[in-house]
Amino acid sequence: MDGDDRDINLTEVNFSRGMLAGLEQRVLLDAFSGYVSAVEGVVNDGKEATVYRCRPREEVCGTYLAAKMYRARKFRAFGNDARYVDPRRVRDRRLAKAIRQRSRKGRGVSHRMWIDHEWQVLNLLYDSGASVPKPYARCNEGILMELIGDGARAAPMLVHVALTPDEAQITLRAVLRDIEILLECGLVHGDLSAFNILYEKGKSTIIDLPQAVEVDSVADAWTLFHRDLDNLFNYFRRQGMVLDTLDTASRLWSRFR
Ligand SMILES: Nc1ncnc2c1ncn2[C@@H]1O[C@H](COP(=O)(O)OP(=O)(O)OP(=O)(O)O)[C@@H](O)[C@H]1O
Ligand SMILES: [Mg+2]
Repeated sequence: MDGDDRDINLTEVNFSRGMLAGLEQRVLLDAFSGYVSAVEGVVNDGKEATVYRCRPREEVCGTYLAAKMYRARKFRAFGNDARYVDPRRVRDRRLAKAIRQRSRKGRGVSHRMWIDHEWQVLNLLYDSGASVPKPYARCNEGILMELIGDGARAAPMLVHVALTPDEAQITLRAVLRDIEILLECGLVHGDLSAFNILYEKGKSTIIDLPQAVEVDSVADAWTLFHRDLDNLFNYFRRQGMVLDTLDTASRLWSRFR
């Protein structure tokens, strides 16, 4: 690969995490070299991952890409890994024990399974017609997807958007349709709120899927589902809507479960 067109634009990147961010971008450029020609900046530095705005190679697509790079294990607080990567679902008994006891090997496996899980859920939902970013590629450290926004500018989180009554109605209907698709796929998002929905030109997009749970494999799926809906409704209540979480949650749950 020609090194010249894989430049890192250092001036635009937020280097609050200094060397680590530089390393992360090199990993990104290496892993996604077939898709990305340059890293142009940081979209968001989240709790568990940093999302970078990337310029795509011309032959890949005409829109910007977002690379969600999970923080190296030791710089991240995955206190609840065990909840999402259930050791009971790992066939190898020694590996299951390592994950349960959070040994170094166990944390490594857990890290990859976490990214793998987000990748698989994103693909399943995209293929099922849900409004999620188009997935492009994955590597051991993260995933590459469509950048939701307007050109190089990433879309705001819904929580930062004030909607008119009409927009609120339309947006809630669209998000509920996506929640139905999740249920049809046997999934509950697990961390749904107006923080994990992006909003651009009247369209909502659900993001941040690593903690999605399979309804049939966790005992508290209903509780998570109800909490998701309540967090979502709290935003729409602030937009002036009157909503009954239990009523809607029960109706959707009984239709699809
Ligand atoms: N495909 C995308 N297009 C545009 N912006 C995105 C995209 N994916 C993520 N972002 C931005 O990056 C932020 C962090 O992404 P995400 O929520 O998936 O990761 P996270 O580590 O769980 O972050 P947090 O802990 O802050 O929720 C999002 O809130 C959003 O602003
Ligand atoms: Mg998030």
